[in-house]
Amino acid sequence: MQPSLLEDIAQIPNPYPIVAQTQYPDIWGLCEQARALAWDPAAIDFSDLAAADLPPEVRAAGAEWWSLRAWMEHGATPYGAERLRDAIYSHQPFEVKQHITNFIAEELRHHEASFRIARAIGGASADYQATPRADYFQAIIPRFHDEREERQMSFFGGLAVNTLFEQLSGELLQARYENAQFPSIREACRLILRDEARHVQFGRLIMRRFFGELGDQEKEMLGAKVSKKLRGSLLNGVYAVVNLPDDERKRSGHNRALAAQWGLGATHPDEEIAIIRRGVNHIRADVEPWGVSIPPIPEIDGA
Ligand SMILES: [Fe+2]
Ligand SMILES: [Fe+2]
Repeated sequence: MQPSLLEDIAQIPNPYPIVAQTQYPDIWGLCEQARALAWDPAAIDFSDLAAADLPPEVRAAGAEWWSLRAWMEHGATPYGAERLRDAIYSHQPFEVKQHITNFIAEELRHHEASFRIARAIGGASADYQATPRADYFQAIIPRFHDEREERQMSFFGGLAVNTLFEQLSGELLQARYENAQFPSIREACRLILRDEARHVQFGRLIMRRFFGELGDQEKEMLGAKVSKKLRGSLLNGVYAVVNLPDDERKRSGHNRALAAQWGLGATHPDEEIAIIRRGVNHIRADVEPWGVSIPPIPEIDGA
């Protein structure tokens, strides 16, 4: 075997001690809620979408939109898997590993609900897109989670930053929930939002508990990461279409607008920046007391 191959073999650190003593009762409370509020995307009745009188062009736009939602939700699972591994080998107590395990399962559940909606809307005209048709999306979705960026942050610092994005995507999802005219889409959005509220709550608990311990340098880095991720991937068609190349912005924006006009649980591209601006300003107010500041983002703060 070549030495370079040996380098690729993952090292398994010592798993002991495997901590069973609860250290964070408020995190354990979230785990209990997750157990009580589990739900099944396959149990939602999507027949309203099959029966709806929608032109083929709208069905195709809706299937594309919910495929995008499905890819985004799925993007949280590799991120979660890496954090679970960190939690295991940094000997976090049971409730932290349980919360991250729940997080992974819940994001996968959001993914499932989204691809089921995409299929049901698509009907005979379109399907869930397992691979994005647009080249640009093929390139952008893998950049959604960049483990090299994550590794620069402390375990709890990184988890807190992720939760800030959950807060932002929650605000966008709220608008999409309000847009949804079909009971099945509304129900899926409501249940996803309920899970997301718990994810956001986890971030708040972490900030309250751990942000006081962060050094100035890490605080500065966390703020810079938020701004970088927003500009680098989330405004590139994930949260909004603003940073997409011209032709793709027009194509993708047109489809989003169609999905929104027909009440398929989408946001019109013209509304998205205002929602994100409001969300980022909430986040700024939340993290400022901890000495974390998010550098200006020209797309939303103005040049
Ligand atoms: Fe989610
Ligand atoms: Fe989430």
